[in-house]
Amino acid sequence: MPIEQDYRPGLEGVIASETSLSFLDVDAEEIVIRGYDLIELATKVSYLDIVGLLLDGKLPNEAERESLEKDLKAEYDIPEAVISILKALPKDTHAMDALRTGISALAGFDKELEDRSREANRRKAIRLLAKVPAIVANSYHIKMGKSPIEPRKDLSYSANFLYMITGRVPSESEAKAFDQSLMVYSEHEMPNSTFAARVIASTQSDLYGALTGSVASLKGTLHGGANEAVMKMLLEAGDQSQIEPLIMKKLKNKERIMGFGHRVYMKKMDPRAQLMKQALLKLADEKGRHDLYEMCEIGEDVMRREKGLYPNLDYYAAPVYYLLDIPIDLYTPVFLAARTVGISAHVIEQHENNRLFRPRIRYMGPRNLHPRRS
Ligand code: ACO
Repeated sequence: MPIEQDYRPGLEGVIASETSLSFLDVDAEEIVIRGYDLIELATKVSYLDIVGLLLDGKLPNEAERESLEKDLKAEYDIPEAVISILKALPKDTHAMDALRTGISALAGFDKELEDRSREANRRKAIRLLAKVPAIVANSYHIKMGKSPIEPRKDLSYSANFLYMITGRVPSESEAKAFDQSLMVYSEHEMPNSTFAARVIASTQSDLYGALTGSVASLKGTLHGGANEAVMKMLLEAGDQSQIEPLIMKKLKNKERIMGFGHRVYMKKMDPRAQLMKQALLKLADEKGRHDLYEMCEIGEDVMRREKGLYPNLDYYAAPVYYLLDIPIDLYTPVFLAARTVGISAHVIEQHENNRLFRPRIRYMGPRNLHPRRS
């Protein structure tokens, strides 16, 4: 094959797999999740319905949903040894590195680790979905010198996740906004982190290893790390009057403005950002923080005017998480927790219909060199 002609930097536009999980239909401005529009789902169902849809291929009925919730709650506890490992980490460990370590440590406790059947992979996905929120929340509490927070089974999955982070039972509208954010983060076709997981799974490696690789991928600021960077920028600006000068200064310095642009959407608005913008408006009104919403809108206008770029999900998820009292260090780990279901579904698919990923590279180095005899 003439590999030179096939080179596309960053694999832009390259179809790397077939899937029945999701598809970004940019022209129709629709994120298709197993036939449904993600944005419609996010306004009509809850995160656990999307978990069922992604893992089992159909939206669960009431009984199936209850059974899913029961299965998750039965797996909430994390082994004491994993807590000890988290406690042993240096205090300045990045939250994504702690999460990566925690997920990796969990692997050894899963008796079905090496079973790649659909059923075993599904059970492992449930265990991960149950335990990842506890690792996210408690690695932070441990780092801050506090005791881990025990999960509360009387709360819904999402409300418990938020409770474990903040130590406070969320209001109904807070729990709803958080659940909605988990839904829009749940699955998104073939981003870098999902590709990383599929590449790892394609060697017949296990789900925990694939997810661990995804955590490393998602940490970067060009991907999941952007939501934290967005909030830092908004806080640096401080108020509505300062966001435009700050963005202009960064652009002048040729810096990228976090939360804007997207490889697939390019110069169109990410539909998920639109939904989170609405969630932000509602929360901002409830909490008397309309200034934060206005600051974000100004930033959006400046970027459209200056660069023709639109917000991606991270731009509006960040201030939503801020108003939910989530520590900034945990924004990207929460993204990963929400995406655990999508990544798991991709690993299940990869294991079921596998071909090893092994692309080629364009060699730019010298040829025909010979070592000098000493
Ligand atoms: N701020 C300023 N300029 C930008 C931005 C941005 N956020 N995004 C793209 N550009 C510019 C680039 O400088 C480049 O300009 P040039 O052609 O004059 O050099 C042009 O747009 C194309 O950029 P590329 O990096 O080639 O586009 P790519 O598709 O590789 O990048 C990416 C996509 C990485 C998301 C990019 O838009 C970016 O860096 N955004 C900021 C980080 C971010 O928000 N990431 C979150 C992604 S979504 C998610 O993970 C949920």
